[in-house]
Amino acid sequence: MNVNITITPSNRIFVIGLGNVGSACAFSLLHNNSKPIELVISDINTNLLKSQLLDLINSIELNSNSIVRIGNLNEIIDGDIVVLTLGSNAIQQGKTTRLDLFNKNYNMMKDIFHQIKILNKTIFLILVTNPVDVLTYFAVKDTKLPKNLVFGTGTYLDSIRLKIFLSDYLSVKYTDIHGYVIGEHGEFAVPLLSSVKINNLNIQEYISQNNLQINLENLYTQSKQFVTSYAYRIIENKGYTNFGIARVVNILCNAILNNQDLIAPLSVVLDNLYCDLYTNVLSIPVLLNSQGWKSVKLNFNLSDIEINAIQETIKILNKITDFGYISPI
Ligand SMILES: NC(=O)c1ccc[n+]([C@@H]2O[C@H](COP(=O)([O-])OP(=O)(O)OC[C@H]3O[C@@H](n4cnc5c(N)ncnc54)[C@H](O)[C@@H]3O)[C@@H](O)[C@H]2O)c1
Repeated sequence: MNVNITITPSNRIFVIGLGNVGSACAFSLLHNNSKPIELVISDINTNLLKSQLLDLINSIELNSNSIVRIGNLNEIIDGDIVVLTLGSNAIQQGKTTRLDLFNKNYNMMKDIFHQIKILNKTIFLILVTNPVDVLTYFAVKDTKLPKNLVFGTGTYLDSIRLKIFLSDYLSVKYTDIHGYVIGEHGEFAVPLLSSVKINNLNIQEYISQNNLQINLENLYTQSKQFVTSYAYRIIENKGYTNFGIARVVNILCNAILNNQDLIAPLSVVLDNLYCDLYTNVLSIPVLLNSQGWKSVKLNFNLSDIEINAIQETIKILNKITDFGYISPI
């Protein structure tokens, strides 16, 4: 159940961790906002931070009312948005997954969660650091913030990747496709073909109307492979991902600042049953606006493959959140 609190978003966004992801988020937030913002940046690497500030200031156009400055968490006031982008990004296909980053990144986060708890302000907390679903659970537990003000970027990026795959595979315009990946932002992502709409047709109707020879089980396997390998394909040569996630953070902050009622697949602490299993945390579509996130009823007719996959994901996420990290692969 969501705690009912009333919060008025300030125009201030903190980005903590100004590496590859944090700096791209900062750039996107400065340049894609419908409202002017005060962007406060922080990083333990103070030399890097100073350079990032100079570069970001250099990117502000003359007519921008937004400002950027260095600051830290002890300045937060009610209504601020805090985006956590610090932490290790070291994953390698077939060797290390996002879940393997848990011990290292949770250790970095503990102090920050503690600081937020003792400052005792009512803020929006957005987790980007991986493993994002698991860390969202600990963020709620450790900060004691109302759970509807805390969420991770979850499977938003994965959902974009599913649409990229389907657009290419079916030769349909990206913007004509809707659908969600749920579960975990990682190997346990579940592409929900049952949620896919192509020009208002569900996937089965689209296949029949276009006389396509497509087996839905194969399509599920191929889309899962595409979605879960996408980041590794970027990391292989670039070393990290940052533009996609920066855009997602920007969209989520805008939904809060402008009370947009955005439906987005985010990591949220559920504490209830999902697919018949008690669930600590999961990435699912929720409604996000200036009061945080709340559950939304979307009636997807889940296939057996999808239900089994979601249950497997819930078991893994529960295991890590209940007992600490045990390598799943
Ligand atoms: N959720 C998603 O969809 C998504 C997408 C891409 C990356 N990520 C994750 O984002 C995180 C950051 O990735 P990156 O490529 O920017 O890494 P990075 O190493 O480039 O940046 C991390 C930054 O955090 C800083 N930092 C470390 N401890 C800090 C602290 N206590 N306070 C403030 N700053 C601190 C470091 O100095 C560094 O500048 C990783 O965990 C990565 O896996 C998540």
